Amino acid sequence: MGIQITPSILSADFADLGAEIGRIPSADWVHVDVMDNHFVPNLTFGPGMVEALARSTDLPIDAHLMITEADRHAAAYVEAGAGSVTFHVEAAAAPVRLAREIRSLGARASMALKPATPIEPYEDLLGELDMVLIMTVEPGFGGQSFLDLCLPKIRTARSLLKKHGLETWLQVDGGISLETVERCAEAGADVFVAGSAVFSADDPDAMVAALREKASD
Ligand code: DX5
Ligand code: ZN
Repeated sequence: MGIQITPSILSADFADLGAEIGRIPSADWVHVDVMDNHFVPNLTFGPGMVEALARSTDLPIDAHLMITEADRHAAAYVEAGAGSVTFHVEAAAAPVRLAREIRSLGARASMALKPATPIEPYEDLLGELDMVLIMTVEPGFGGQSFLDLCLPKIRTARSLLKKHGLETWLQVDGGISLETVERCAEAGADVFVAGSAVFSADDPDAMVAALREKASD
């Protein structure tokens, strides 16, 4: 699949999201950060917003669920039109069942790990997933600094995927910018979320292109 750039609308103008998404036509996905004020100390969007966004753009929606009881709520985001649904393993009671449910409803199933969550215990689950998300900040807010301590986990994830011959995408999210994207690509990531870097740029689509180019070097 190659390198993919998925801008996060968390740093976009919430009063004009349709227009904001119109500024990133060369993005591969639109990353929508769903937060519930329980799993993370911030509150954002629900399925109704995902449904409206999915209707407003031709770009596929990458829903990142930072919510407790992911097992109960994930299906609603597939039904709302997300093409990819990411749940946090820390918030899933039955991650295998949940990944299978997301896939059976027709979306890509993805599992996220917070910075302190190791990937090794989940080696045997990787074949159930279309994407693994390695968080490179503590989830909850845009504009935080990239955590270098997450780089070894990206390397481990890449080598486990290789070992099992899996095509599973490897996404990174948090503090991704022109300064950090290469480090992540070199460690093995191939899908890059970027919020503040894209939406604080004068030309967000040019930033998408610049990130793609740096990651491809
Ligand atoms: C953080 C979210 C991210 C956030 C990234 O919890 O999951 O998607 O929007 O923002 P930046 O790119 O500004 O770190
Ligand atoms: Zn995110």
